[in-house]
Parts: sequence; structure tokens; C-alpha cells
Amino acid sequence: MNVELKNLSFDAACLARTDVLVVLVAKDFKVPATTSALGAWLQQAVKTGGLGGSGATQVQSFADPRFVAKQVVAVHVDSGDADGVRSALAACVKSLSSSNVKTVLVSVHALQLHRSSANKRDWSQTLVGAIEQGSYLYTTSKSTTVGKPFNARVTICADDALALAPQFAVAKAVASGVAVAKEWANRPANLATPTHLGEQAKAMGKLRNMQVQVMGPREVAKLKMGSFMAVAQGSTEPLRFIVMQYKGAPQTQAPVVLVGKGITFDTGGISIKPSPDMDEMKYDMGGAASVLGAMQAIGELQPKVNVVALIPSCENMPDANAVKPGDVVTSMSGQTIEILNTDAEGRLILCDALTYATRYKPAHVIDVATLTGACVIALGHVRTGMFCADDALAQSLSNAGEVSGDLCWRMPLDAAYGAALKSNFADIPNIGGGRAGGAITAAKFLEKFTADFKWAHLDIAGTAWVSGSQKGSTGRPVPLLVTHVLQHAAGLAGNTKPTTASKRAAKKVS
Ligand code: BES
Ligand code: MN
Ligand code: ZN
Repeated sequence: MNVELKNLSFDAACLARTDVLVVLVAKDFKVPATTSALGAWLQQAVKTGGLGGSGATQVQSFADPRFVAKQVVAVHVDSGDADGVRSALAACVKSLSSSNVKTVLVSVHALQLHRSSANKRDWSQTLVGAIEQGSYLYTTSKSTTVGKPFNARVTICADDALALAPQFAVAKAVASGVAVAKEWANRPANLATPTHLGEQAKAMGKLRNMQVQVMGPREVAKLKMGSFMAVAQGSTEPLRFIVMQYKGAPQTQAPVVLVGKGITFDTGGISIKPSPDMDEMKYDMGGAASVLGAMQAIGELQPKVNVVALIPSCENMPDANAVKPGDVVTSMSGQTIEILNTDAEGRLILCDALTYATRYKPAHVIDVATLTGACVIALGHVRTGMFCADDALAQSLSNAGEVSGDLCWRMPLDAAYGAALKSNFADIPNIGGGRAGGAITAAKFLEKFTADFKWAHLDIAGTAWVSGSQKGSTGRPVPLLVTHVLQHAAGLAGNTKPTTASKRAAKKVS
């Protein structure tokens, strides 16, 4: 994605040489005092209602000899809130993708009124996220592609570009992390095996301060990850345990540990799933994909913080060797687990990764998983389920969600929700309590492996991808994770000094 930020007044933007000039216009937009032809045109249009009084995303496009741009698109963004701007700009970029446009200038001058500090939402992430969303195109397993990847140079121009520059650098890195997450999540399971994920992680080892280690069945057996191994044993694809370490701060600084569920396909195992929509279980490595994406963004931004990524990855398949309902396995923690339902496999691979996290003496651990259908019932497709017993960490994650627009919602963890996790044949069962509150039961199971550190769990079953004709990965929760890690880093530094990357970005803004 080719996006840059430029300090340019409204009048200057109107006179700039570009293939397309996109002007985002909010409903109650007050045209600034302007001498430009475009300003005058907008003023007239707003006055006469020519831009349409209501509706979220009306787009008017015209070529006019009075304007320097070959094409001018006025994008009507209704009230001008972040969600409206995001969807309208994404739709606009998508519509431009089919044309041969080389340069796009986006004017946000007509949104100035809406960027109040009361609103937590980060404007750079809104704008850059929209451009990423509108220009994303999956191509990997297509021999012919309808449309082509959008690679025009997009310049966002504002009066206060300089002030926006540090956030803009973050937004670009987030967008690049989102693209990584989308790519891997969207790939079919035969092209995104645990081995492939390991190779992707290894390739990311070339990012500065990034070290990557990929373990296979032998090493994992040595670690005594009996629970993780039980899930993998029904598949001929060998498991992988990916460990990535980003070292941006002295070794004495406790790292943030991110853990991503990497089930590259979830058939349910012997407790097999029904056929309809089972293809969507290729997205069951969405947690892993988002952790890879977050590490990509962090590697690009080089913040002064330590981050460890742990990704247990395997397939969940039914087979002669597959684990059976009732089998008891011993987790790395030493706790024995009665596997009553082989389809509750995510928690079985995560629990061993959580135990492994202990060795880093983490500041805190955040696991990310497409863990339960119950979470989709609870929260739908808007907010990620967030489970966290630590108020400060929960607050920080909620805030990171608000800032990035990648929302989450705190869920309860009362002891009573875990009461049904009782087994006659092992220390704990992997399910209990039936369908009611299933997302919380899963979290209570995971909690039993987190005694040694602060922990949060993100259930992204409803937010990692969208179904239907627009089926595809959302790249969530990369924006939330990266925003959180950067806020954690800023808190450690005791200030909000810009990173080297953002300083470089500020310099580039003219
Ligand atoms: N990967 C699924 C969860 C899932 C299902 C996510 C549908 C998104 C859409 C997970 O491994 C699973 O199968 N969970 C079971 C747990 C149950 C057996 C307690 C579920 O949600 O049905
Ligand atoms: Mn499952
Ligand atoms: Zn699963």
C-alpha cells in the first residue's frame, strides 16, 4: 500500500495535479473561506443540497475544466464520524481500483470539525485503515483475478499533517500488519499449513530485532506439551510451535507475550462438525494470523518494548490416530485433561502455549483465538470478547480498541462460571456446563494455566472474518494489539515520546 501524508491547505489541494481528487464531505460541513473553484462548487452544492442531505456514502464524480484534477470525487460521509468515514472512503477506493488511476489525493479538510479530542478514535488509523480495506484483494490461489490490486499513490492532505505524522506512521504499520493477517487467514488450509505458517514466521525473522524459532513434533514432545500434541495426532500435517521474540528494549524489561491459536483447519476431530460452512474453519488460525500481523507491524515500527509471540499450530482432524472423546492427556503444566469433546481443541493447544509463556516472566500475556461459537452468539460480529481479571489491563485493551476502532467488550470471569469444569477421570475436563455461557467456560478453562502472570484472552470467533458473498478475513484484532503494545511501551517510557520511525515520518511530511 502506497499512502503518504502531506501538509496541504484546502485551496492547494484543489489546485494540485492528480488523477483523482477525493474530497470527504460531512453533512454539516462548513466550506472554509476559499478562493478555489472546487471550494466554490462545494459551497454551492452544500447550499443547494446538491450533495445529498442524507445517506452515508453518496459519491459524486465529475470532470470539470475548472479543476486541475482529471476527476473529482466528493464522498459524502454523513455525520463524519469515524465509522462513516471509514466505510465511505473504503468504498471509494474500491471503486477506483478498477480504473487506471495512478495518483489519488484525499482531502480531509471538510472533516476538520469532527476531529474533536473528546473522540478517542485515531484519525490516521481511520483513514489509512479505510484505504487498506478498499484496496485489499486476495489473489494467491486465483489463476485469473477479477479486478487488480490497487497500487495508486494515495496522498492524504490536511492542514495539520505535521501533528498527525507520528500516528500516521503507526497507522501505516498497522495496515501492513492487517494485510499480513488477512493474507494468511484467507489462504485455504492446504496452502496455509502449520509448516507454511512456520515458514512465514521465519521469513519475518529478517525484521530488525526479531528472532524466530520454529519447533516441530520432536521439540514439542520434549517440552511435554501433551495437550497440544493430542490435538495434532489425528493429522498427517506435522505440528509447529512458533516462537518469535522482538527485542526493542533491554533484556531486563518484562515482555508482552502474545499467544495465537493456530488451528489451520478445524474439522472438530472425532466430535466432527456438521458440513455446512465447514470451509470457514480454515479461519481457525485467525488468532495466529493476527499475532503474525501484529509482529509485522511492531517489527516495522521498532518501539522500545519487548514482545514475544507464541503460536501453537496444527490441524484438528478425525483419523485412526485421532484423540478420542474420553481420552485423558497430560498438559505441560502437569494438569491432566479429560477430552470430552475433541471440537473444543483451541483451549487444548493454547493451554500448553500459556504454560510455556511462564518462562519469559511476562509483563502480561494476551491470547487471541477463534475459540467459541458461543462468543458469536454473545457479541455478534462487532466486538471481540475480552476476558481479563486485571482491571488495568482490561482498561488498556478496551481503550486500545476505542482508539483503533477495533472494538472489544469485557466479559465476566466469575468463579461460578467455572464450576462445571469437573472430571471424574482427570484434573479437569475440556468442556463443561453445556451451551450456556460457552465463551466464558472456555476462558475459565484457559485461566487455569495462567496462575503465574497477568492475562487477557480475546475471543475473536465473531470478528476475525466475515461470511457470505464478501467472505474474507478482517485482519482483526491486529489494530487493537498493536495499539495496545505501543501504549504499553509509552507507559513504560513514562512519556509519549515519538518513536524513531514516527520521527522519520514527521521529517518526510512537507
Ligand atoms: N473453532 C471453533 C469455534 C468457532 C466455531 C469459531 C464457529 C467460529 C465459528 C472451536 O474450536 C469450537 O469448535 N468450539 C466449540 C466448543 C464446544 C465444543 C464446547 C463450539 O464453539 O461449538
Ligand atoms: Mn473446534
Ligand atoms: Zn477451533
